[in-house]
Amino acid sequence: MSSRESHGLLHPAGSPEDAWWRHAVIYQVYPRSFADADGDGVGDLAGVLSRLDHLTSLGVDALWLSPFYPSPQVDGGYDVSDYCGVDPVFGTLAGARHLVATAHERGLRVLVDLVPNHTSDAHPWFVAALASAPGSPERARYLFRDGRGDHGELPPNNWRSIFGGTAWARITEPDGTPGQWYLHLFDPHQPDLDWSNLQVRADFLDILRFWLDLGVDGFRVDVAHSMVKAEGLPDWDEPVRMIGGAEHSSPQEAPAPMFDQEGVHEIIRSWRRLLDSCPGERAMVAEAWVEPADRLARYVRPDEMHQTFNFPFLTAGWDAEALRKVIIDSYVADDAVGAATTWVLSNHDVVRHASRFGMPDPTGRPNGIGARDPQPDAALGLRRARAATTLMLALPGSAYLYQGEELGLPDHTTLDDDLRQDPTYRRTHGVELGRDGCRIPMPWSAGAPALGFSPTGRTWLPQPAMYHDLAVDRQDGHPGSTLELYRELLRVRRERGLGWGSLTWYAPLADRPDVLAFHNGEVLVIANLGTRPAPMPEDTHVLVSSTPEAPTDQIAPDTAVWLVSAS
Ligand code: GLC
Repeated sequence: MSSRESHGLLHPAGSPEDAWWRHAVIYQVYPRSFADADGDGVGDLAGVLSRLDHLTSLGVDALWLSPFYPSPQVDGGYDVSDYCGVDPVFGTLAGARHLVATAHERGLRVLVDLVPNHTSDAHPWFVAALASAPGSPERARYLFRDGRGDHGELPPNNWRSIFGGTAWARITEPDGTPGQWYLHLFDPHQPDLDWSNLQVRADFLDILRFWLDLGVDGFRVDVAHSMVKAEGLPDWDEPVRMIGGAEHSSPQEAPAPMFDQEGVHEIIRSWRRLLDSCPGERAMVAEAWVEPADRLARYVRPDEMHQTFNFPFLTAGWDAEALRKVIIDSYVADDAVGAATTWVLSNHDVVRHASRFGMPDPTGRPNGIGARDPQPDAALGLRRARAATTLMLALPGSAYLYQGEELGLPDHTTLDDDLRQDPTYRRTHGVELGRDGCRIPMPWSAGAPALGFSPTGRTWLPQPAMYHDLAVDRQDGHPGSTLELYRELLRVRRERGLGWGSLTWYAPLADRPDVLAFHNGEVLVIANLGTRPAPMPEDTHVLVSSTPEAPTDQIAPDTAVWLVSAS
């Protein structure tokens, strides 16, 4: 480890004049579960519009909307049947345009989700492919292949779906005979596109242009590392884990044939050229589960993506040494390519950090928690989640928040199995519970039907009893609440310029591997992830503490503070 990495300056300061995305705090809205204006139990764009005040009073810079496009909703809208429309369950295109314009008036940027790896099987492109002959241009948009075996009865290769089971589905040809197979890395209702097809590339440039013209500030790109598959689709005997799992450990090792292929970079560059040709600072963030950090940083070279999600940070768990390593690796790799580092603790695909950190193993990465599993310690999880966020928001770079984490929401960890909707649950025959627990409708008002999520009281997934006391109106204006902590963190972060700040390790606590301590400009950040108190440096006072009561002489376990010199 070089001296830059282990002590002293790790990351130099930027400037408030830097492009917005280099230091922005971006709030993820999962539209199904944010706010339901029309009362059908599913959140919608009018609901988001009605709650923009929540985002401005929180103090975020931008929102990212998970998919709201026409979709059979097999995978929560990540199965798109029309890339340039709005599903009636969420509203109308005019409503989307109005939402983007209104957000802009309030000073909020808007990113939308782009899902290029696969379409829905209800997309007209796929419907046409099924109706056309093998070898036709319609089939060539997707990865159709003849089966193996004497009669083509075996899948073309041994790839597994990320949601469980085989990654191939066999179709019946228009004449009624058993036919070709198509690849689906996710659900069979999500056929993978063939990105070697120039028509696919041209169509997606049109889709990007459509949303850029509508005024969005950029895109969150779904599974951006998997669009291109290795030539010949060779067998792969290793497990295919994407969510929370890297496919290889060093750049020398060949990546899995469905991930991180060199060809994706050319596609990303073509999109970057388009974004750069638009007025304003449009940005893209890649969802790319690629490790190690220098391999991931290839996605954010100057002519590629603007950001990638920092999943190694999310998956490091409540573990000081693991987090220190991720922080070092991230800055070293991103600074080398001139990219801004990002940070994230929760999203719609993982157990919320307030639940993860309350598990007996706070470094675990369960794919859902169910009634038969050991239950998280809610108080401990919340205490650590608040400390983790206090740490995260002090790190220079951009940060992503997931709706509800500002309330300290845990997952629904006792959801009735019959209600589970994540395709993972079905495809793994219940072995993996899946992601429904982190997608529960938001609690806005403790006394209202569906805790204020929906005027009729309907909710597409039930809210756990615990959400009552965590509703926005129970926390708003209450000092010490998680909501007020987030507001305070974001206010001070902005005031002190932490987003574009620097990171210098704080040497006096170097003998405490269980403590993370660094300066960002004049702010001294100390996060105690250990089991014994850490000394509070003399002559400092607390700007913000993750605990409702600010510490005075010692920083207790599972606490993070922002300090400044008292003199
Ligand atoms: C991404 C999304 C996830 C979705 C998958 C397939 O990982 O975040 O929700 O299921 O891609 O589109």
